[in-house]
Amino acid sequence: MSGARLLARLDDLAQVGPIEGGGSCRLALTDADRDGRDLVITWMRDLGLEVVIDSVGNVVGTWNVGSGSAVMTGSHIDTVRTGGRYDGNLGVLAGIEVIETLMQAGLTPPRPLAVAFFTNEEGARFQPDMLGSLVFVGGMTVEEALDARAIDGPRLGDELRRIGYAGAHPCPSPSPHAFVELHIEQGPRLETDDIRFGSVTGVQGISWQEVTITGQSNHAGTTPMSLRHDPALVSARIVVFLRDLASRYGGDQVCTVGKIDLVPNLVNVVPRSATLTLDVRNTDESILRRAEAEIATFLDQVAGDEGVTIETRRLARFEPVEFDGRVVDLIEDAISHRGHSNMRLPSGAGHDAQMLARVCPTAMIFTQSHLGISHNPAEFTDPDDLVEGTDILLEVMWRLAHTDFDAAPGGNS
Ligand code: GLV
Ligand code: MN
Ligand code: MN
Repeated sequence: MSGARLLARLDDLAQVGPIEGGGSCRLALTDADRDGRDLVITWMRDLGLEVVIDSVGNVVGTWNVGSGSAVMTGSHIDTVRTGGRYDGNLGVLAGIEVIETLMQAGLTPPRPLAVAFFTNEEGARFQPDMLGSLVFVGGMTVEEALDARAIDGPRLGDELRRIGYAGAHPCPSPSPHAFVELHIEQGPRLETDDIRFGSVTGVQGISWQEVTITGQSNHAGTTPMSLRHDPALVSARIVVFLRDLASRYGGDQVCTVGKIDLVPNLVNVVPRSATLTLDVRNTDESILRRAEAEIATFLDQVAGDEGVTIETRRLARFEPVEFDGRVVDLIEDAISHRGHSNMRLPSGAGHDAQMLARVCPTAMIFTQSHLGISHNPAEFTDPDDLVEGTDILLEVMWRLAHTDFDAAPGGNS
């Protein structure tokens, strides 16, 4: 394992679409995303991997050795607008490092090893999130995916062609033998408990909606308060309602309004409309449904109270996912075999692994995230943890290549 090589590649990739504070902005299928893709593919080709690009731009590099289906790892290299340098990138570059290390050691696994990066994992520019891996496993048609609209207008299919990543390989793809993803935790739990690595038991459910509020635009100085139908006020009430809902529910419940657009967005005009996004997550599907129902009731009520109309549009909806208990156990074992204590924990963030879990035995390895900060250039993981996490990934992939699974993915123990 060359820690220096891994860290140098992370630095090189971070410099594609650099932003202040040391992070990156590579929103999906922008020029920066294309440049990042080109760079990672260069590294794959330098290793002699067979590189395949599919019809939604997912890229898979395979070391074609042994026989049977591949043990696959990977993640994403697209970022949010304020991306850190590890979210996604670690999982992809660690996968390349694992293969390169085995090749150099002259160790050949009994089946192929593959490393993938999937299109539009973040869901920041196109929705839903995890779009590429969802199509990869047959959870969404290629046609539907190509028709997704960017927040800045273009169709996904047109952007793919424009950046040269509309590949020929069909989706869904044949199922891998198993999938494992190394990722930073992006939350505070490992660091708080002073545990370096985690075996991830699953991913919480994700509900994304866009809410459009239409009121009446009017003069800020002359319109009496009693005559207003103000979408900005309604937006504020929704934000406060979500915070109160999360406090009332407690546990894992989280709610976020990450985007609010007012029209016309001027100092002296009561806005005509507001468009905001709701991100609501819980590990328990029944609680998540209850939250969604309460939100719908509240939207009706506030629309009546303030004399505005409210329309909602579904952006993404994924039920909680439980990873395969056999892979979770195997990861836990590899972590302890390398001399570390382990925490079993669910993921708060969405990941490509949650889609691969539909078709093959799957789980994830987490490393600590300093202060739990992510989707922020300040995202930081100790370099020793990045390297050791990659060694754990190597051990897990090696063992998965030597494991025979039954046909059906197992539940989480
Ligand atoms: C992806 O990063 C998500 O969980 O929003
Ligand atoms: Mn990620
Ligand atoms: Mn992310």
